[in-house]
Parts: sequence; C-alpha cells; structure tokens
Amino acid sequence: EHNGVAQPPSGVGLDGLRRAAAGCKACELWEPATQTVFGEGPETARVVFVGEQPGDQEDRKGEPFVGPAGRLLDKALAEAGIERRDVYITNAVKHFRFTSTPKRRIHQTPGPEHLRACRPWLAAEFEVLTPEVVVCLGATAAKALISPSFRITKDRGQLIPWSLHGPVEDDEDEEEAPHQTWMLATTHPSAVLRTPDESRAAAYDALVADLRVVAGALA
Ligand code: URA
Repeated sequence: EHNGVAQPPSGVGLDGLRRAAAGCKACELWEPATQTVFGEGPETARVVFVGEQPGDQEDRKGEPFVGPAGRLLDKALAEAGIERRDVYITNAVKHFRFTSTPKRRIHQTPGPEHLRACRPWLAAEFEVLTPEVVVCLGATAAKALISPSFRITKDRGQLIPWSLHGPVEDDEDEEEAPHQTWMLATTHPSAVLRTPDESRAAAYDALVADLRVVAGALA
C-alpha cells in the first residue's frame, strides 16, 4: 500500500520532518525497507550533500552515508578541508531499494516514480536549511535536481547558479530572481569504490578536487 507523494508538514523544523518521514508510505519502497533514512546534520549547515538513496548499512542503521561509501566520503571531505559535522547529508530517495538474494540485498537504482514521490522531503529539507551550496553526489541526484540531461563526466565540478525552486535559466531577470544557491555535481563515492584498481586513485583525487571547489565557495 502506498499513497503517491510525500506530504511533509510545514513549520516543524528538521526534527519534525524526520519524525514525519519515519511514517512515509508515499511509494512502495517503505515496506521492504527497514526504516526511513532521513538527512543528518545541523540546521545551520551551509552546504547540503544529496546522494541517491540509503544503502544496506544505512537502511539498518537509519543514518545516511555510514557504510563504505560514507567512509570514503568522510575521508574525501576531510582532505578537502570540509568538516562532516558542519554539513547536512541526505538522499534523493529516503528508503533503500533492493532485490534480495539468499546471501545479500542488492542495491537497485530508484526509478523516476520513487524520486517524484520522495521529492517533497528534499524540498522541505532545503526550505529549512536554505543552503548556500547543494552538492549532488552522482548522476541520480544530478539528473533529479539539475536536469535529466546532466552528465557527471562532462559537467562535474562546476558551480552552477541554482535556486531552491529549480535551475536558474540563463535569461532569467537577475533583479527578479537572484540566485541564492550554488549547485555542484560530482561523482558518487560508490562509483569511486567501483572504479578499477588502476584508476581508483585518480577517481578519488577528482572527487577531492571537486570538494575543494565546494570549500572555496564557502570561504
Ligand atoms: N549511497 C547513497 O547514495 N546514500 C547513502 O546514504 C549511502 C550510500
């Protein structure tokens, strides 16, 4: 049973949103998953990182980016001079989507219907946080937040003017709609982990380089 699209309460702050999201049944992913994995971080965070969806360990622990991808992200953030405790980290979809084999649960990329159903939670998080920079980790977040035609390989590491209501058009009147937010997309830490041995160090360094751009925007 699911009911289509999340309907976050307003004016309740991050804790209130987290409590409400715990009971979300907007898409069918709630049922096989262990729990909703809401975003984590201080309400004062100036930067918000958006991943794809919780993984196996995140689903069990109820916290984003606490598995292998999270450990790699922590290391890359530290190397770029960003403190994890200062940032807010969340996902485009807040339940783990997987198929089960007898041995393990295998991640499945969320579909457009899951992104759509979950989007109001992300919008509500942005509304409370009013971040200066939003960082998309990987193609799923970038396609959902920037454009379906966004290509990480081509367009990564660039600060793009963005507004909490969507991409800022080039021809938009600056007076009427000044952008308040920068968007930047980079590789997903899991993609770095999946990179073949011989090029993994380079993929990691490229992630750190993009995170340094984020650090620069906050300076
Ligand atoms: N990958 C994600 O996109 N998000 C997490 O929280 C963990 C792994």
